[in-house]
Amino acid sequence: MTSLDGQTVFVTGGAGFIGSAVVRHLLDRTEANVVNIDKLTYAANLASIPQAAGHQRYVFAKVDICSRRRLRALFERYQPDAIMNLAAESHVDRSIDGPGEFIQTNIVGTFTLLQEALHYWRSLETSRRAAFRLLHVSTDEVYGSLGSEGLFTETTPYEPSSPYSASKASSDHLVRAWCKTYGLPTIVTNCSNNYGPFHFPEKLIPHIIIRALADDQLPIYGDGKNIRDWLFVEDHASALALVAERGAIGETYNIGGRSERTNLEVVEAICTLLDQMEPSAQGSRRRLISFVEDRNGHDRRYAIDASKIEQELGWRARETFESGIAKTARWYLENRAWWQAIVRRGYDGKRIGLGLGTAVASMDA
Ligand code: NAD
Ligand code: TYD
Repeated sequence: MTSLDGQTVFVTGGAGFIGSAVVRHLLDRTEANVVNIDKLTYAANLASIPQAAGHQRYVFAKVDICSRRRLRALFERYQPDAIMNLAAESHVDRSIDGPGEFIQTNIVGTFTLLQEALHYWRSLETSRRAAFRLLHVSTDEVYGSLGSEGLFTETTPYEPSSPYSASKASSDHLVRAWCKTYGLPTIVTNCSNNYGPFHFPEKLIPHIIIRALADDQLPIYGDGKNIRDWLFVEDHASALALVAERGAIGETYNIGGRSERTNLEVVEAICTLLDQMEPSAQGSRRRLISFVEDRNGHDRRYAIDASKIEQELGWRARETFESGIAKTARWYLENRAWWQAIVRRGYDGKRIGLGLGTAVASMDA
């Protein structure tokens, strides 16, 4: 039994990597009714929710969160008890080439969702108004870059480096302002890097797995010593469900896996696993590792102090990095059809984020 049972939950971005894990969690582990609201950008994939087909508690709406009119119609029709906002542009390298979409979805989209949620929330009767929650899902990248010491806490000042993280920081500020100014019952979560099944192959871990299986060069930006704090996506989904159920209004919860690894360590771990699971005739995949030009504004280290959500809500990550990365490598080996369809649709895996400024000019013209 969970307190989400019988409730109607809007999940925006539910066809994306983390959003689909949230939808799977809600369908498999609660009795919530799910309305998946997604514009279906390049990053979306409805095949990431296999259990959705014919599911009685699931509805999909192809809607852009920037559309006030279409959001209003969804609120009127489905009368949600909670919203989990995961719709976003999410890839740093893309944000360097074309920040316009990031400003639009991450900032204008969040603003539009807040306005429509507020309009709806004000129309509710007292008990439903008191129980309503809007959970905004954000990233640790808003805090900027750490040196070799220290962890991000909920009170670390914002210092975003990329157009992506700056747009997410902006959306977090809007969400908190709507809580303080209008009383809208919002909560913000800031999570570290996720990985796991159904991850679009532009991000480091699936990118490396797929290239390693094709015997292609494995590109590591800069010196490979940048550190990320990796969390298995299903652990993130369980944390978000817990925050939606029991999180306190107006609060922030940092979520992370206590699994700091350099990018080189991550790539080497993937090589070792694939060499064991599917040995290559050419020898270890480590021979494919190649250091390439660094990302502009590349944050050196992220690391989350997750003690607040652990102590106040009793959340724990179930996977270690070792168990999670092994599950992930196995999943990509056993689910080639899922990612090969993305390659067939035109994803070519080429390096992006180096054409500084050109796409910006064309988008804004
Ligand atoms: P993703 O890129 O895989 O998925 C985003 C989804 O949002 C896609 O399905 C896309 O179609 C949808 N979307 C984009 N613009 C939309 C719009 N205007 N209206 C409706 N839907 C739209 O992203 P993800 O990795 O699943 O990230 C989800 C959220 O979690 C983001 O807010 C991201 O900032 C945050 N986050 C991600 C990570 C990570 O490691 N991936 C870590 C912490 C936080
Ligand atoms: P990414 O998955 O893009 O996530 P984020 O930038 O949001 O942390 O990248 C994770 C790390 O891996 C980051 O330090 C950049 C690096 N990286 C590479 O070294 N090579 C690659 O091909 C990619 C995609 C990322």
